[in-house]
Amino acid sequence: MPEEMTQKAIPRENITQSDFPEPEDYFRVFEGKPAISPRNKTEKYTHFNQFPGYQVLQKRKVEAQQNNISVPFFLTSESINNDRININDSEYINFSGYNYLGLSGYKYVSDAAKAAIDKYGTSVSASRIVSGQIPLHLELERVISNFLGVDDCIVFVSGYCTNVTTIGHLFGRKDLVIHDNLAHNSIQTGCQLTKAQRLIFPHNNWDKLEELLDIHREEYQRVLIILEGAYSMDGNIPDIRRAIDIKRRYNALLMIDEAHSLGVIGETGGGVGEYFSIDRKNVDIWMGSLSKTFASCGGFIAGNQALIEYMKFSTPGFIFSVGLSPPDAAAALAAFEIIQREPERVKRLHKNTLLFLELAKQHGLDTGLNSGTPIVPIVIGNAISCMQLSQRLFDLGIHVQPIIYPAVMQNDARLRFFITSMHTEDQIRYTVSMLAQELAKLEKR
Ligand SMILES: Cc1ncc(COP(=O)(O)O)c(C=O)c1O
Repeated sequence: MPEEMTQKAIPRENITQSDFPEPEDYFRVFEGKPAISPRNKTEKYTHFNQFPGYQVLQKRKVEAQQNNISVPFFLTSESINNDRININDSEYINFSGYNYLGLSGYKYVSDAAKAAIDKYGTSVSASRIVSGQIPLHLELERVISNFLGVDDCIVFVSGYCTNVTTIGHLFGRKDLVIHDNLAHNSIQTGCQLTKAQRLIFPHNNWDKLEELLDIHREEYQRVLIILEGAYSMDGNIPDIRRAIDIKRRYNALLMIDEAHSLGVIGETGGGVGEYFSIDRKNVDIWMGSLSKTFASCGGFIAGNQALIEYMKFSTPGFIFSVGLSPPDAAAALAAFEIIQREPERVKRLHKNTLLFLELAKQHGLDTGLNSGTPIVPIVIGNAISCMQLSQRLFDLGIHVQPIIYPAVMQNDARLRFFITSMHTEDQIRYTVSMLAQELAKLEKR
């Protein structure tokens, strides 16, 4: 077995802050102070093809070519991203999209979006605070707050922007923000944007979180702890009850990003609130994305009345950005309606996830930290092997995306399978058996 295949992923519990890429490191090489005066005429500082990051990118493309890998990114699909997908006139079983309940492409949802276009056009053409608000915005915010059981909600045009602008805006120089080291890039970027001090604790390591709070709590005014409801690269669920207990004892605030958990976990898709049977009011800031289960585009923050009122009048990513487009608002609204009207979708999603995980276990596949969510990583370790495996599966009619650095750490590459309620038992059985077969072949080389 080649050495590259034996490189095992570092156990997530042992990851330290320095092992994980900072967003600013992506494809950048720091060169320190310019060696020559920037006023000198040099292409180095004026041509994008001279940017060190661009050159790293070219090197990676050559590496892929040398390993006979066609770059598996930016594949263009010509169909709905569902249990199947059409790419280059061929149909594939698809595990590369997070249309968890099959609501994007569902006629009821599409019809709602079309009706909204007929009534309001394709854009609201202004920020909501200055004439861009339509009734659909308010209705969607009401439906989301009711779904969660909190006072109020504010919707944004992007899930990513929701985290960046919310965290970036609410906290300042005298505050502390502290997040799990597997937090999504949007959380990390929001933390970098604030003038608050930032700390990172090892994944799900509550003792370490408490230790950091013991040492630092007293130095700051507000302290925000940020977690995800289901981690987007690993598919595991943190112990929210423990987090609530900690935030109470240290007089801190708790924010939970439910991008991959709302509509997904909990018996009826009620997210971590339902999964842990907790009163949602115990968490200060709920964040969600509309682009996953909710068949749309955008994000939201939900919480108490004061938080939402303050944010509506002051958050830069809200007041200086256009309101959610009419079809996006209508699609998300319809999706929330269907989740409640057709609970069998969530049940099917759970059944499919269980089947995939059971089969993976039978074949001895490494599903990493997955704790029963429909985000199933198959941890490979080496990035080239991971891309090769993805390509072999593609040749067998299965589309699954390789996840490599910087989305995860070096040597922690994995195939990430998103299971949906639309997958059939046959699709899942075929996929897991091909996956085991091709991985074994790759390891034997
Ligand atoms: C945990 C998490 N938060 C936020 C986002 C951003 O959401 P969106 O893709 O809707 O912008 C993502 C995207 O995948 C995510 O995984």
